[in-house]
Amino acid sequence: MKQKSHITFTLNGEQTEVAFAPHKTLLEVLREDLNLTGTKHGCELGECGTCAVLVNGKSILSCLMLGLEAEGHEIKTIEGMAVGAELHPLQQTFADTGAAQCGYCSPGFLLVAEELLTKNPKPTRPEIQEALSGNLCRCTGYIKIYEAVELAAAQMRGEEYELPRESVYGLE
Ligand code: FES
Ligand code: FES
Repeated sequence: MKQKSHITFTLNGEQTEVAFAPHKTLLEVLREDLNLTGTKHGCELGECGTCAVLVNGKSILSCLMLGLEAEGHEIKTIEGMAVGAELHPLQQTFADTGAAQCGYCSPGFLLVAEELLTKNPKPTRPEIQEALSGNLCRCTGYIKIYEAVELAAAQMRGEEYELPRESVYGLE
């Protein structure tokens, strides 16, 4: 039997220890050894963004990072985004606007958008487009995703923000 590697790191705010085959990517460790399947498995080539997680607050593609490299770092996955039963504002606005359809791309978009709003609480539409340009979505056409990020940003700043009626899911 092949030797397993052990690492200790912070996962969604909790000190975590895991053993896995040393060749595995962080994506594989999360999904296969920690049963956190919210991080999605897409191209495995760094091209689709669906495997994005936050490492020390910065988005990275977990398909391109070895699990071993997570040692000692803080990793946040989609499972750590809500606080108890309370959704993160981005999760709520993605649901409200129809920015999630099949949902396969959503964990990656949500975490990259969270990183953006942490750094820049009032991003312009081009800044949102730029920040999310590494994430692909086959379903939404992106506009609803950009609107959801703008809406969440406004809510997080304590402002009122109303979406155009035709943007609301089901009314187009
Ligand atoms: S699965 Fe990692 S970028 Fe596509
Ligand atoms: S909602 Fe289906 S791929 Fe984005």
